Amino acid sequence: MNWWRDAVCYEIYPWSFADSDGDGTGDLRGIADRLHHVRRLGADAVWITPFYPSPLADGGYDIADHTAVAPELGTIGDFDALTARAHGLGLKVVVDVVPNHTSDAHPWFRAALAAGPGSTARERYLFRPGRGRLGELPPNDWQSAFGGPAWTRVSDGEWYLHLHAPEQPDLDWSHPAVHTEFERILRFWLDHGVDGFRIDVAHALYKAEGLPDAGPGQHEDPARNHLMPYYDQEELHPLYRRWRTLLDEHPGVPGAVSPEDRLLVAEAAVFAPDRLARYVRPDEMQQAFDFAFLEAPWDAPALRRVIEGSLAATGPGRAPVTWVLSSHDAVRPPTRYGSPLRARSAALLMLALPGAAYVYQGEELGLPQAWVPDDRIRDPLWPRSGHRERGRDGARVPLPWSGTAAPYGFSTAAPRSCWLPQPEDWAALTVAAQDGDPDSTLEMYREALRLRKAWPAPADGSLLWHSPSEAPYLAFTRGRLTCVVNLGARPLPLRDTGLLGRTVLTSGPRDFDDVLAPDTAAWLLVES
Ligand code: NOJ
Repeated sequence: MNWWRDAVCYEIYPWSFADSDGDGTGDLRGIADRLHHVRRLGADAVWITPFYPSPLADGGYDIADHTAVAPELGTIGDFDALTARAHGLGLKVVVDVVPNHTSDAHPWFRAALAAGPGSTARERYLFRPGRGRLGELPPNDWQSAFGGPAWTRVSDGEWYLHLHAPEQPDLDWSHPAVHTEFERILRFWLDHGVDGFRIDVAHALYKAEGLPDAGPGQHEDPARNHLMPYYDQEELHPLYRRWRTLLDEHPGVPGAVSPEDRLLVAEAAVFAPDRLARYVRPDEMQQAFDFAFLEAPWDAPALRRVIEGSLAATGPGRAPVTWVLSSHDAVRPPTRYGSPLRARSAALLMLALPGAAYVYQGEELGLPQAWVPDDRIRDPLWPRSGHRERGRDGARVPLPWSGTAAPYGFSTAAPRSCWLPQPEDWAALTVAAQDGDPDSTLEMYREALRLRKAWPAPADGSLLWHSPSEAPYLAFTRGRLTCVVNLGARPLPLRDTGLLGRTVLTSGPRDFDDVLAPDTAAWLLVES
């Protein structure tokens, strides 16, 4: 069985994981030095978000050079050492590929600006004349995912498309040079020993012919994303099939997985399960993040509908579902669900489901969303939303490792020199504070990953529901493991569920006596 089918992959945001050189920014050596934390957690792989040279207009997703390491984060030699260390620990390494856009500091975009309208240098991006008598209006009505128009006008009067920040011009995927360049990028990182790629905004590379208007309500209803003329176009699928072939055919390097075990994971914000399922086919990608699960409210019937929809579209016998509870883009679970206990229970729910799961750094510590003061916010969402949305920095502040005050072992720099400030009340949340404490979130995650491996889901990914579909609790069995989550307001006596078994893990107090308190989850070994 391919390793990724039920893998737990740990997401590392390199700017905030660990700082080895005291400059207040995380780096690749910091990651290599702390990989044992990921190993000890029990994860199978690390996914490292962009560590490439970037002006950081969008947290590193604005890339100026796709085949180099940002000088603040290290060197290509550091990357090779990190990969070797990971492989030595039995961890696979997945890196980001960001094919929808480059940074405006990328040599291609600089050349495009310098060369002017009608030049071949502009053909690799989406430059267009404006509408209106003097071309003073954007070419169409498309809105940036960060707010405001998706077009910016340059001094010679042309407009260019950016589905994200203006510093992230979109590439034109109908241009052959764009294809050749990204094949080179994939090969470059394969030669450096990576085991897979996470494809950023995998649903956005192609735009509908003629760039037609999208109409009102864009980005308001994610369930309709696949209908937008800039998302989910047919041409994406032959492209990803070619990339799968490239991965299959590229020679291996020692330490990395063999070609057929290489992974492509889609970050596709397509919420209709049948549309998302089209990205995961045997000759295409292997995983696609299930964001519908992450977005679902703390409500048993709603969560169940999402789980069933995803399993039905991609589940038994087909591709596994790839569950996600948090990421560098999402509000951290204790804050999103309104309590640390709910976040722990959601984790036990996710980790019991058949399929793969991603754990974002700090999720295993139960970190809440941090408050970042106005003058320290880096996320472009803040200015582009007219200062209405604070953005994602609160999920990206540096990890607390040890000690009782900032920077909590993240760095030797003074706290004010760290690239994002940490809260003052995180002393009890550090890795060191939680290590060995059986009631801690860290130990709960370690135990959950251990048990999940010991009692794997059936190979066909099937799951058996015990709870009625509108019940205020969820109960299901995968293989030998049964998971019960009480999302209702009242205590749930387990005998009411008809499930009697040995409790092996709970998200709440351990002196649990067969009555599950509200917001609590338990894993049981039910003897049949
Ligand atoms: C998704 C990434 O996860 C997010 O952080 C980024 O802003 C956008 N893609 C644009 O690259």
